[in-house]
Amino acid sequence: MLRAPRGTNDILPGAQFRWQDSARWQALEEAIRRISLQYGYQELRPPVFEQTELFARGVGESTDIVQKEMFTLMPRGGEGEEGSTLTLRPEFTAGMVRAYIENGLHNLPQPVKVFTYGPAFRAERPQKGRFRQFHQWDVEVFGAQDPAVDAEVIEIGIALARRLGLEGLEVSLNSIGCPACRPAYRERLRAHFRPYLSELCPDCNRRIDQNPLRLLDCKVDADHPAMRTAPTTVEHLCDECRQHFAALQDHLRALGIPYRVDPKIVRGLDYYTKTVFEVLHPQLGAQSALWGGGRYDGLVEHLGGKPTPGVGFAMGMERMLMVLDEMGIPLPPPPRQDLFFAALGEAARRAALPVVYALRRQGLAVDLDYLGRSLKAQMKYAGRLGARFVAILGESELERGVVVLRDMDQGQQREVPLTAEALAQALAEAMRP
Ligand code: HAM
Repeated sequence: MLRAPRGTNDILPGAQFRWQDSARWQALEEAIRRISLQYGYQELRPPVFEQTELFARGVGESTDIVQKEMFTLMPRGGEGEEGSTLTLRPEFTAGMVRAYIENGLHNLPQPVKVFTYGPAFRAERPQKGRFRQFHQWDVEVFGAQDPAVDAEVIEIGIALARRLGLEGLEVSLNSIGCPACRPAYRERLRAHFRPYLSELCPDCNRRIDQNPLRLLDCKVDADHPAMRTAPTTVEHLCDECRQHFAALQDHLRALGIPYRVDPKIVRGLDYYTKTVFEVLHPQLGAQSALWGGGRYDGLVEHLGGKPTPGVGFAMGMERMLMVLDEMGIPLPPPPRQDLFFAALGEAARRAALPVVYALRRQGLAVDLDYLGRSLKAQMKYAGRLGARFVAILGESELERGVVVLRDMDQGQQREVPLTAEALAQALAEAMRP
């Protein structure tokens, strides 16, 4: 049997599919669209694949994403555009920045606040909450340095979660400095860890030269004594970074968002400066963040644009839906079917079809049976669809030019003339509060 590739998920019709139920996805997407627009973010949809070089340069050559996890495509006939291969986006930020530069969005009034959501791809080992195709809600702000914006992008994620009914989130916050203060800090870190290298894992040994900050979030060596005594980023910030971090914390306190400064949050992507944060829910286990993000003041320039500050985050949509499911928190149900037309026999169905289509044209959600089932089976099917009304058209009704309209909630029924107008009016009357 052909199967979906490992680490991918079907999103399916039906509540029994739990977090994979497409109705829940629609509800989450609707909540995302609504809150993004409400906070002043507009949609920017970048392509699903980009030139490989964008991610190599944007996300960073030394990151796990670029070194091990990219799905790189070899277009038929060899290379992609301009000699580069193409890669399925492992995240959105690099593509959003490219789109900002390429489309001259720096000419718009700043800041430019954008959001998007959709699939991203990482060739990771699949496990609970970790997939190879997953979905993110991504939010980015270009052109503002103000720490109040860092606070806004932290708050909007919390606000979405709260709107969906999810509380108990844990915000971990850190500042990893800027090109002014980080080089000296990096040296301090190297000097701190070098004596212990023979006791540390191969990844740490590799990273000490390329990216020593990543030693701080090593899972293998988390309990090594050198980790506890390592110098922290926040102790080595320059004045500007320190003030920015202090102001951000003031804003978070003012917004009533509890947080913890965690010197181990350094993030697995290279572009961050100053603020970095992750938001966890205990239900998912301590390792897996529901979302994460931070500031990237050098990235636009690094990718060929004018110097432009940026800050944003991305939320894992699978993880969000999994936590909601595990906590038993329901999402708003999809709109109900207004009417199911139970026509019995071929003649009745021929008479029903024009009425069904006329009602649909008026905007009502109407369905009918295509399998020639018994009345009992059709009523059961209508129940499963959650139809509010069923119109029953048997031989005797057909002769008299009426249908029996049954209100599935109230259990009452009455006869209505077999016309779209009469049915639409009867439905409108019954649904009037
Ligand atoms: P990230 O931490 O790599 O950041 O991913 C953000 C979120 O996407 C994670 O917290 C997690 O919920 C979800 N996620 C990541 N990988 C997987 C996976 N393999 N399976 C399921 N969910 C996953 C970024 O992607 C940055 N671009 C965020 C950002 C935007 N920073 C600034 N702007």
